[in-house]
Amino acid sequence: MTRENKAVFTFFGASGDLAKRKLYPSLFKLYQKGYLKEHFGVIGTSRAKWSDEKFQGIVSDSIKGISETEKGQAAKFASHFYYIAHDVTDKAHYAALNDLINQLNKQYEAQGNRLFYFSMAPAFFSVIALNLKSEGLITDEGYNRLVIEKPFGRDYDTAKQLNDALTASFEEDQIYRIDHYLGKEMIQNIEALRFGNTIIESLWNNRYIDNIQVTLSEKLGVEERASYYDTSGALRDMVQNHILQIVSQLAMEQPVAFTDADVRVEKVKALRSMRVYSPSAAATNLVRGQYDAGENSNAYRDEDGVPADSATETFVAGKLLFDNYRWSGVPFYIRTGKKLADKFTRIDVVFKKPLIDIFAFPQNPNASLSENVLTIYVEPNSGFALRVNAKSTGQGFETEPINLDFFQDADKEKEVPEPYERLLHDALEGNSTNFASWSEVAYAWKFVDAIRKLWDIEVPRFPNYIPGSMGPAASDELLQRDGRSWVYKLNQ
Ligand code: BG6
Repeated sequence: MTRENKAVFTFFGASGDLAKRKLYPSLFKLYQKGYLKEHFGVIGTSRAKWSDEKFQGIVSDSIKGISETEKGQAAKFASHFYYIAHDVTDKAHYAALNDLINQLNKQYEAQGNRLFYFSMAPAFFSVIALNLKSEGLITDEGYNRLVIEKPFGRDYDTAKQLNDALTASFEEDQIYRIDHYLGKEMIQNIEALRFGNTIIESLWNNRYIDNIQVTLSEKLGVEERASYYDTSGALRDMVQNHILQIVSQLAMEQPVAFTDADVRVEKVKALRSMRVYSPSAAATNLVRGQYDAGENSNAYRDEDGVPADSATETFVAGKLLFDNYRWSGVPFYIRTGKKLADKFTRIDVVFKKPLIDIFAFPQNPNASLSENVLTIYVEPNSGFALRVNAKSTGQGFETEPINLDFFQDADKEKEVPEPYERLLHDALEGNSTNFASWSEVAYAWKFVDAIRKLWDIEVPRFPNYIPGSMGPAASDELLQRDGRSWVYKLNQ
């Protein structure tokens, strides 16, 4: 059932790229589906001096690919948007903002619900939170929620400082730390697959699983984001958040119930048992890379805004280990990078082979059973495949691997909500299951900081991989050393 949500939204960073590309179109989808109807108002703030009309024009332009009839709907939607120029560091500006929130709350009967969205330079996150409180913008009338974009700090210490500033104004259950990977259909499906199927969950441990592989591969390079990316690198940009969130869902125990509080408890426990590496262990278990020049494509160091001697990694592969009863001895291999062969995300769960292969007949010495592999295809197509061994058709007795698979059909795929649409709706509903809690973020930073301790002092031999590959050779060697290989290989 579609329930109407009532709230006044305030967007800090309303003129930014994310707001235009993702946030306004996602709110429009919620409007089209009836999750937002009459009882909502949206305030955009930034330093730019815009009128309401200009802002509404920008919002309407951000909604792409709609029919003539939908255009009328979009205009009505955009009429709920208001703009106020705002310097977040100037306390005096908050009074006018508060007046506008109160006015829209009355006008749209939004029940005093206030949702603040921080999508601007992270350096301002703390000051906004503190000013919202000190200037009286957090009220007792309805709810007050804060949705906050990444990056959440750049190491444990800065993340803790930010969190302390936020929690001086908001309670943990009012803070929604966005990780858009948690809004993806197939990432949410990990829980359904695991906890909805006896045949899967009963095998989900070190007795039956040999290793798990998580690949977030990107075809594009750093594009126009060098100024941010060069201070971040793939470890902070993709591993600390997206990959560790995915891994925690794969590794966690079954929650008592499927509620945000119960899921969080289990994810935190999983992350706590993930091994934090010493510098020498990090050297063995992590691989970093940076892309070189390729055909018609620049080396990372030649991209606009990147220093010629940059040591920033555009690729990471690693072996993660969990010191707990379920996962002891099972490596979780992860990899992510820019300028790789293709844009896709997948998870491969590799099961152990049968202990004895009774089909290894003397007349058939090269025959061998394949490992069962459960692949979760996250993007671009959503689906699952389970590789099993079956008899090859015909005389004799040979086995061959076949795939049992399911892919979402194209029409259904179109109905899948965008991550931002889903997560904005969750925040309106007060459901934080698919947002990162502070403890999760903290453990993830501790893991990453330990690796950075090594990487920040050791000079890497970059560049070390070519565009269109799957990263440096050391990434393959990481698994070869353990007698394993990546399930997804180039040119298969
Ligand atoms: C972002 C990173 O969080 O995720 C980007 O900052 C990356 O560098 C992006 O490109 C990938 O997201 P998606 O949804 O396109 O896989």
